[in-house]
Amino acid sequence: MPSPSISSLSCSKIDAGGVLAERPALAAELAREMEVTEAAGLKRRLRIIEGAQQNVVSLAGREVVLLCSNNYLGLANRTEVVEAAARATRDFGAGAVSSRLISGHMSAHAALEERLAEWKGTEAALVFSTGYQANIGVISSLVGPGDVVVSDELNHASLIDGCRLSRADVAIYRHNDADHLRGVLAARRGSRRVLVITESVFSMDGDIAPLADIAAATREHGGWLMVDEAHGAGVFGPCGAGVAAELGLGDSVDIHMGTLGKALGSFGAYVAGSRALIDHLINRARSFIFSTGLPPSAAAAAEAAIAILQREPDLGLGLRRRARDLGLRLRRAGIAVTNLDSQILPILIGDARATVAVAEALLERGYYVAAIRPPTVPEGTSRLRLSLMATHDDAQIGGVERALVELLAAGGAS
Ligand SMILES: Cc1ncc(COP(=O)(O)O)c(C=O)c1O
Repeated sequence: MPSPSISSLSCSKIDAGGVLAERPALAAELAREMEVTEAAGLKRRLRIIEGAQQNVVSLAGREVVLLCSNNYLGLANRTEVVEAAARATRDFGAGAVSSRLISGHMSAHAALEERLAEWKGTEAALVFSTGYQANIGVISSLVGPGDVVVSDELNHASLIDGCRLSRADVAIYRHNDADHLRGVLAARRGSRRVLVITESVFSMDGDIAPLADIAAATREHGGWLMVDEAHGAGVFGPCGAGVAAELGLGDSVDIHMGTLGKALGSFGAYVAGSRALIDHLINRARSFIFSTGLPPSAAAAAEAAIAILQREPDLGLGLRRRARDLGLRLRRAGIAVTNLDSQILPILIGDARATVAVAEALLERGYYVAAIRPPTVPEGTSRLRLSLMATHDDAQIGGVERALVELLAAGGAS
């Protein structure tokens, strides 16, 4: 084979003498990049949780109160959920081992999808292997060139990536601003299909979308509405069916999406809606078609979690009340809690390094709270994201409250 000419190498660096300059080795290049990331206070590290993800976890051999988990209702550790997963593993094996469209569709999936449709009050439901896959699969299969997708400016990365993948015209409306959404929709009247997308409970802000107004604006402009209930499912609505159900807007939402890996304590995600929507996704959503099905244990665990929600319909409400009380007390102490309406209490710090310093100081005191920094949130809005679990006791909540007041009410750590 002839060797490639220098001009055919896409990123050649050629010096004045026409000689290909030496490129840095991959590891050296990446290490240099990471130094810059670290200097900006933006390096992310994995922390090992030793043992179960309960309200108290072991971190590097030390017990700390966990305040950044999405196991909002403690269902990941409920006996019925764990037993269902174990039983399904024994009965079906450890994995689905094929795409659902080949041999990976098992009775555990079918039972879960039936339960999901009943819970959500829709004709049908479809389970994806992750929420990320559900979002990119739904959006890219519903809209394309010539269509417009209108997305809240704070929507999750998986929704943003779905919009990008679709190659539709992407228009952004101001966060939770239905009037601005109306303006954006009016400016794109000529588009073929119009898909409006919002989260119900925003993952990093914890605030709730004005779904009634968004649904009305979408309807006025002949659009379709998709709502991501990743953080609403389980915590809001009758039997945890989500914010849309709580507001009586189930029928105004065309595409209900939610995850099984947060309040439901398992793994995976669902899309619920009309039979036609589900048939379309089975046939067109590439992230469903070309990916291995959810492990049967995860399907069975999620089904058991929904059964618990149906038996104990107030689990989410109790959690939200306690979160609101804590948020109010912190606010009264002068701490910038930017939301009180859900289980997610963001505490705005601003600077990324300062946010990490407060999180580290909390950890020293025995409280594990996540420091959220760009690119997850916009520049200058780094925050602590404190999420309560239904299983936290009063002593744990009082303890983190005192630690936060000590660190922040007097002007911050550092
Ligand atoms: C709003 C939102 N949508 C989708 C996802 C993706 O879900 P999964 O973790 O199952 O991929 C997340 C997860 O963080 C999320 O917060």
